[in-house]
Amino acid sequence: MDKLLIQGGVSLKGEIRIAGAKNSALPILAATLLTHDTVKVCNLPHLYDITTMIELMGCLGVEPIIDEKLNVEINSSSIKHFNAPYELVKTMRASILVLGPLLTRYGQAEVALPGGCAIGSRPVNLHISALQAMGANITVENGYIKASVQGKLKGAHIFMDLVTVTGTENVMMAATLAEGQTIIENAAREPEVVDLANCLIAMGADISGQGGDTIVINGVDELHGCTYAVMPDRIETGTYLIAAAATRGHIKVKDTQPDILESVLSKLEQAGSEIKIGENWIELDMHGQRPKAVSLRTAPYPAFPTDMQAQFTALNSVALGSGSITETVFENRFMHVHEMNRMGASMRVEGNTVIVDGVEALMGAPVMATDLRASASLIIAGLVSENETTVDRIYHIDRGYECIEEKLQLLGAQIRRIPS
Ligand code: EPZ
Repeated sequence: MDKLLIQGGVSLKGEIRIAGAKNSALPILAATLLTHDTVKVCNLPHLYDITTMIELMGCLGVEPIIDEKLNVEINSSSIKHFNAPYELVKTMRASILVLGPLLTRYGQAEVALPGGCAIGSRPVNLHISALQAMGANITVENGYIKASVQGKLKGAHIFMDLVTVTGTENVMMAATLAEGQTIIENAAREPEVVDLANCLIAMGADISGQGGDTIVINGVDELHGCTYAVMPDRIETGTYLIAAAATRGHIKVKDTQPDILESVLSKLEQAGSEIKIGENWIELDMHGQRPKAVSLRTAPYPAFPTDMQAQFTALNSVALGSGSITETVFENRFMHVHEMNRMGASMRVEGNTVIVDGVEALMGAPVMATDLRASASLIIAGLVSENETTVDRIYHIDRGYECIEEKLQLLGAQIRRIPS
């Protein structure tokens, strides 16, 4: 397994381009199963998770055509069976997103139950109960979700006990071809849910309310093909901006979307950065100053995203003062805290809050990544350390960050990948 070698102490400076959003691309690729027409998906990021989803399509008998820019054309009329095997699902939980499309279009689906992961147990009970409310027969046997329905799913009025992003996405996709109207209450408002809804509407779906907490879908007989470009990745955007703030740098990120990052930009301004925004770019300048500690609380959109909690914890580790960070979405998303304390950070976890007393700089050390966003936070910790840091198990990183070391090198970081 490769490692990343980082020589800290450099302030990031320069410009990078942001890739398409992983968490929008994954449900949109699954949505191509809803029609026998060809769907062309553009602006896909070059990530392991994207190739895993394309591999999963292959498992179903669907052969995507990929061009040199990684635009993908999918025509699912060649589908042969409806089973998402454990070997693939265990590497990517988002495989669960084929459940709704397979069930509503083919009346059957067998998807391995995603296990827990480093950040929590991550059950999918809400996906299952919502589809059952729409008339699906679902059992969980031998680690597989076995779902079927005679005829069509029926529209239903669904109340989600918790805000669930992929739960909302699965139900919304299932409802597009169901009989009658589905209303999803307490729906996820994330921009990636809106991006999926816009793609489904381009395919002929009848959806309204996306982006709010009540989404209404009127089932139609069939969906047609379209060409759709995935939105920019707001988590990748925020990760680089936080890294620039932590290293007292000055960067500009292009091909992004400032209006969906308001909670993060507000916290970065509280940390002392000067932020300028344009239609599709964001510029952050620390004017060489040490960041100020910031307190925050993660919650579903539009609140501060859980996927940027670890990165902000890394910023707080070298900030002026103390800040508390509360994680309300996942039950175990502080794995990076222990690794950063090994690097000289001063953090203590109290329940679902980590209190961070900023230090001037960390000390480089060999550390290990546990999940996608924790990996990114350890890289930021390495960037603000004196001497050398090696980050192991960076396959987590390659799942969610396109060419991370190249982009950081473009910003002046001393970072390189070494085969271990
Ligand atoms: C999506 O995961 C994202 N992944 C995650 O990003 C993100 O952290 C998360 O939403 C929260 O924003 C994708 O979109 C592919 P949830 P998801 O269902 O949908 C509980 C990354 O780093 N829950 O919104 O799996 C669950 O345990 C990844 O890119 C149930 O209890 O998250 C959690 O506590 C990490 N039962 C909370 O809801 C269910 O049936 C929110 O989870 C479903 C969820």
